[in-house]
Order: sequence, then structure tokens, then C-alpha cells
Amino acid sequence: MNQAPIDQAVAWKRLMEHAQEMRGAHLSQLFIDQTRGAAFARRAAGLTLDLSKQRWSEATIEMLLDLAREAGVPEGIQALLSGEHVNVSEDRPALHTALRLPPEASLIVDGEDVVPGVHASLDRMATMVERLHARQWRGATGRPIHDVVNLGVGGSDLGPLMVTHALADYRPADAHHVEVHFASTMDGSQLADYLNRFNPETTLFVISSKSFTTIDTLSNARTARDWLMARLVNDGIQGVDENMVMRQHFVGVSAKPDKMSEWGIVDANQLLFWEWVGGRYSLWGAIGLPIALVIGMANFRKLLAGAHAMDEHFAQAPLADNLPVLLALAGIWNVNFLDIRAHSILPYDGRLEHFAAYLEQLEMESNGKSSTHDGRQVSYATCPVLWGQLGPNAQHAFYQLLHQGTQPVVCDFIAPLKRYDDVEDAATRDHLKAQHRLTLANCFAQSRLLMLGDDAIEESGERPGHKRYRGNQPSTTLLLDRLTPATLGSLIALYEHKVFVQAAIWGINPFDQWGVELGKQIAGETGEILAEHEGLEKMDASTRALIEAVWLAEQEGDR
Ligand code: F6P
Repeated sequence: MNQAPIDQAVAWKRLMEHAQEMRGAHLSQLFIDQTRGAAFARRAAGLTLDLSKQRWSEATIEMLLDLAREAGVPEGIQALLSGEHVNVSEDRPALHTALRLPPEASLIVDGEDVVPGVHASLDRMATMVERLHARQWRGATGRPIHDVVNLGVGGSDLGPLMVTHALADYRPADAHHVEVHFASTMDGSQLADYLNRFNPETTLFVISSKSFTTIDTLSNARTARDWLMARLVNDGIQGVDENMVMRQHFVGVSAKPDKMSEWGIVDANQLLFWEWVGGRYSLWGAIGLPIALVIGMANFRKLLAGAHAMDEHFAQAPLADNLPVLLALAGIWNVNFLDIRAHSILPYDGRLEHFAAYLEQLEMESNGKSSTHDGRQVSYATCPVLWGQLGPNAQHAFYQLLHQGTQPVVCDFIAPLKRYDDVEDAATRDHLKAQHRLTLANCFAQSRLLMLGDDAIEESGERPGHKRYRGNQPSTTLLLDRLTPATLGSLIALYEHKVFVQAAIWGINPFDQWGVELGKQIAGETGEILAEHEGLEKMDASTRALIEAVWLAEQEGDR
């Protein structure tokens, strides 16, 4: 990986000069070239990536590829996939790609082949899924489990939540009696609702936490445990004791078996994964249990196969045709050379409702950093602010800013080419297919308008300022052949690798997250002051006043 600051690289300096020329170019001029659409598109693993609406030329891409080479991207890819300790600050590999290697593969890491362990873990997960689907996993009173609640946050929530929602159509017939739910917020909002509605006899909690120390998850888990004990043991249901509740109603997923045991998760209900799987990269293994419960193990394996296909492409395709590399370079160009520091993710498919939230963690927790591997502060921008929403809904919310605001924003439009051809009823199928066409029309229209501005319409004559569209806003369009387990796997892997390539260029570590640690510590101290009513003098004037407001509210509550 590169050591010298990347903004000292020859290619960086050339790009800086080149950017001066390109800043004056409007996308509508670049599109005078009729071959541009095809020239800037690439395909791999069921995905088509159209980068023609980026504000760049073939020459820009050549220079960016030089930058990638100077930054050591090819060596970085090799180091990542072969299990080198690319997570430098924590001195370990980042081997999410090993979670999707086929069983016949082998990957020796630190002297050990990790593939057999990966598949043993998947098999253990498959056994749990089968038991739940076959109604053989029963609660303490003997009734089959109906509601499974995943208690987790961040990477132990967002990936499974996003994928289960995206692939709900793939639910096999035997999975229909198991409902999967997610509770992540430490304030208990989601959990309180479930506890009101669910039957404790038929509810199973999956405590998902790589570290098994995350207060958000553990506080939800404690509330869930007390609820079950109160309703199943203390209410005196005959023959039910605490051990049975722990055995029949709790599964743990973690890299910390000791902590799970200490909490009371029985050995048979522990699914383990490894320190070398980062939380936000973990949906491919045991953390994916809720996914497998919804889509079945066969489809879960297709999700892995799709991601693996993208891994193979990432490893083998030349840089100039490599989808993750090109997507990453488009980002580098926008952030570092065109000064576009906002990035919106806009799926045109309701099933991808949680995709933007998932990417917010993947990109910003990975690359929201300013210190390089050797501890130097960077003198260039890194991860942009990334947010998103379903495109059609966002059209009625924040597209106003995209089209006429003062912030330049780059957008990723994501849509499936085909949908609804398996709907049985012919009339409904026709309606839904028409809705899909309408959605695609909107997707393509928006990226075109962002690109061309007023030039997108033929109307002649000067338009008043409030009706003017400046255009020249870059975007990427990503088309999935269909939204399937395999293409979703490739899509997620595409973004994972994009993040890695950008980090390699910026010289930062995408696999740690030290920026979230201090907040946890200070929240602990603040919590003690709130509870103990001592130590207020250590706080600043604002926090003091806020804490006093809470105490006052508590006193009023008591009256
Ligand atoms: O606080 C950030 C973080 O560590 C994320 O990186 C992680 O995905 C999330 O918390 C949950 O962590 P865990 O799975 O250890 O509970």
C-alpha cells in the first residue's frame, strides 16, 4: 500500500491540471459524442454499470487508472483477497470475501485454511434454519417458534435488514410460518412494540453482536430476557424454568463465545464468526441468520455465489474494465478533483428501501477517516456525505435540491431491468409491469435531466430563474438484470470493493472505526451522572443544563 501522500503522486498532479479543463465542460457537450453511452458502460456478474453520465472523458479515466496504479491498488486487491493483514490498526485480515468462497476452495491465512471453518459455520446455521422451518424448534411450552427477533445494531442489523427486505419475494413455502423482525434502537422503541404484540411462547430472540458488548443490543436483550422470564417462568407456567427459556428462546451470534456463555446463551445455540470479519461486512456468515430464515439456505447460498462472482471479477478483470475499480475512481474524481462532496443513493425499486441506510454505514464508517495508515492527517477530502432514499419517493422530497440547489451532488441510480414476469394473474401482471416501466422511465428521466438541465427539453426561449435547470450533475446508473439473491450479492460486493479501492487510494484503513469509540465512553460517564446525580460539575454548561432538565422532568414525573 502507498506510503507517500497520494496528493504528491504524479498522476494526482496531472489530474489536478486536467480537472481545470474539465470543470468548464458541460455534460451536454460531452454527449455530443453518440458513442459515449456504450463506451463508458461495463458489465459483470448480472450488473450493468453506466458511467457515461460522469463528468469525465476517456483521458480522465486513463489518468485515474494511473493514480490507482501509483497508489498500489492492484497489490492492495491481491493483499485483501489473500488474507494479508490489511486492517493495519487492528493487525488482522479483512476476510469477508472468504465467507463466500465455495467449499472446494482453500485460503491459507496465518497458516490455517479458513474455508472449512466457514462452511462448518454455514452448515450449523443451516441446521438451525431447517429446525425453525420444520416447526421443530419449539418454545419452552412446546409450541413452534413463530416470531424471530434479531437484536443487533450497525453491521449486526443493517445488512440482514436490507437483504431480508430486498429478497422477501424469495421466501420458500416452508418459511412462511416464521416471521423475522429487527430491533436495533437502544431506546427500546421497536422492541416495546414487539413485546406488546408477540406471544412469548412462540418468540425467539437472536442476539447478534460481534463484540457482545454493544450496550444498545445488550439492553434490548436484557429487556427481552426479563419479559420472557416474567411471562413464562414467574407467571408460573407449569414445567417451565429459566434454563428452558434460555435454551428455547435465545440464539447468540458473535465472535466472542465466552461473552455469549457468560450472558447465558447455551453452547448449542451459539453461532460463531471470526475477528477477521468486520461488522459492516458480516452479513455473509452467521450474522446472516435472519436472511437465511427468510429466503432459505439455498437462496442464501445464491447470495454468496453472486458476491463471489463479483470477487472473482474484482480479482481478475483488468483495472479498465473492473466495475468496483471504475466506480471507486468515479468517486475519487468527484470528491478530490471536482469538489463534489455529497453523494445520494437512489434505488428505483421498493425492495431496496434499506439499501441507502446500509451503504451509509458501509461507506461512511469505512472511509469517514482523516488519518492515514502511518498516522498522518490527510490534506485531501475522503468519504463524501452519503445518504439516500427510494428514488421515486425522493423525487417528491429532496430532488428539488438536486436540480436547483447550491450543493453539487453525485447520484447513484439503481434499478432492475426486469420485474413482475412471474406474477400469475395476467391482468395484475400487466398492471405491475406497466408500473415497473413507469418507474424506469422516471429513473432514466431524472438522471438525464440532472445531466442536461434545460437542454433536456426542446422548448425554446429564455426561462425565468426559478424555472431554470443548470444540469451538469454527474450520476452513475446501475442496472441489475433482475433483483435476485445472486445479483444482490454482486451489488453489495461491488460497493464493498469500491470502498476498499477508494481507501487504498486515500491511504486510509477502511476496516476499523475508532471514531465511534470515544462517544461510547462518554455516554457511559454521562449515564452514571444521570443515574447517580453526582459529578455534574465535570460537565460543560450546555450538558449541565440538559441533565438538569432530565432530573427536573423525573421529579415532576414522581409528583
Ligand atoms: O459502534 C460501531 C459498531 O462497532 C459497528 O462497527 C458495528 O457494526 C456495530 O457497532 C455493532 O457492533 P457489534 O456487532 O459488536 O454489536
